[in-house]
Amino acid sequence: MSSETENPPKHIAIIMDGNGRWAKSRNLPRWKGHEAGAESVREVIDACIEANVQYLTLYAFSTENWNRPKPEVTALMKLLEKFLVSHTSDLQKNNVKLQAIGRLKDLTQGPMNALSKTISETKNNTKLNLILALSYGSREEIVDAVNNIIKLTKEGNLDNTELTTSSFEKHLYTSNIPDPDLLIRTSGEMRISNFLLWQISYSEIFISEKLWPDFNKNDLFEAIDSYNKRDRRYGEV
Ligand code: IPE
Ligand code: IPE
Ligand code: MG
Repeated sequence: MSSETENPPKHIAIIMDGNGRWAKSRNLPRWKGHEAGAESVREVIDACIEANVQYLTLYAFSTENWNRPKPEVTALMKLLEKFLVSHTSDLQKNNVKLQAIGRLKDLTQGPMNALSKTISETKNNTKLNLILALSYGSREEIVDAVNNIIKLTKEGNLDNTELTTSSFEKHLYTSNIPDPDLLIRTSGEMRISNFLLWQISYSEIFISEKLWPDFNKNDLFEAIDSYNKRDRRYGEV
């Protein structure tokens, strides 16, 4: 058994970045980069299954990504729908349970329907929890949580005792998901871009120089090996 399958992180979160640059370097339109990126998604899901990772969160579309040119946004939504329709049977076969986090009501009808269908069809699967962050922004998530707490309090459905970190995080989209142990960002960028700000407080960070469409199984295993060499101290000695 290789080291990455012996002691894997329980939860890996990935900022999948660099699709546009991958396409540009080949003189292709940006959407071709997103299309190629979908292949990496498939490969990384397989690698996580092989390595016994229990949760994989993929940042697929941020709240800020709505500000991209309309044809690119449309292409991304179409690719998302296509991915869900064509991969649901594989997810089923591989015992993968799909979930989604973000302001999902902002998604267009086609991908939203495909998403609901795949989530419902895979809901009893147990091998890997795959979480897609869609129309996701971490600041938006925190504000949504606060607004939910205000609403529940007004309705008398929340007692008035002071919030704690653990009672607060029950209102985040990720309430049923443990915090990521390992955060990966591809394309060499060293920023968080509004991703899981609360949840990555103590995640280990791995930056890969590879553009997302070039990121493969071995790159994931390399990230896991690096994680396994870290000393997580949580502020202690
Ligand atoms: C990541 O690749 C995919 C999304 C953000 C949807 P980019 O599209 O950001 O690619 P670059 O960063 O422009 O190369
Ligand atoms: C982050 O990548 C969002 C996703 C990967 C979905 P971006 O390419 O949107 O982030 P910035 O613009 O480089 O910060
Ligand atoms: Mg980018």
